[in-house]
Amino acid sequence: MVLVDKEKCIGCGSCESICPEVFEMIDGKAVVKAGKASSKSSSVKEAIQICAVEAIKG
Ligand code: F3S
Repeated sequence: MVLVDKEKCIGCGSCESICPEVFEMIDGKAVVKAGKASSKSSSVKEAIQICAVEAIKG
């Protein structure tokens, strides 16, 4: 289950750059695209690790 904690997200956009099929930026915050919450691709894992504020849970 992929989740973005909107309270933590600072909108750096790294997750979208790495994994645009799962993450998109809306109003300056990352959100998980519809139907992608169960994605376990390696790029999701990479995004989880790259997020500077650890806002992504997977
Ligand atoms: Fe936000 Fe982290 Fe993505 S700060 S935009 S969830 S890389």
